[in-house]
Amino acid sequence: MPQIQHHIALPSGTTGARRAVSIGTLAAEVSLACEIANGMAARVRQALECAVSDPELLTPEQRETCAAGYARHVIYSDPLGRFTILAIVWGEGQFSPSHAHDTWCAYAVYENPLQETIYAIEPQETKARQVCTKVRNPRYSCFAGAGLDQIHRLGNSGTMPAISIHVYGVARDRVGTHVNRILEIEDERGSVA
Ligand SMILES: [Fe+2]
Repeated sequence: MPQIQHHIALPSGTTGARRAVSIGTLAAEVSLACEIANGMAARVRQALECAVSDPELLTPEQRETCAAGYARHVIYSDPLGRFTILAIVWGEGQFSPSHAHDTWCAYAVYENPLQETIYAIEPQETKARQVCTKVRNPRYSCFAGAGLDQIHRLGNSGTMPAISIHVYGVARDRVGTHVNRILEIEDERGSVA
């Protein structure tokens, strides 16, 4: 499992100030979304889509790949521990395991396409089956609730590093242990759409 690296964006000149505004706006919108009874998914997705439209959202350190596996850079952690925002940098051929989630989560593609394989599981089954594989281009976003709402595998089948921005409904110190629920997969076949 790749190590989680913690980089908090600090303002440094015009670019740094703009970056701080983009991260701060995203964090404020997600914070507001946590407070509302309905419409949380749409609000978080909209905030993510806005954030990934900023070409200078990340520092050079937050764009770094990791040879051992996809790199997870923490770019914001909610002081109340309700959520954590990460930039995930996928090197060539790096993929997550197939997983469901123990918390609500959302992501938007920031730079270069990702490949996402979707799985489904029947109520009485113990293994998930593959449904389809999709190309997720920059600005694509999605939101999923905790549990079996979304079972997927994300990664980079291209040659250039790809970056996605993720929000997980856990405190920073739980991102590595309380987000992904690894599932057994029945069938790995599928086609890229
Ligand atoms: Fe996931």
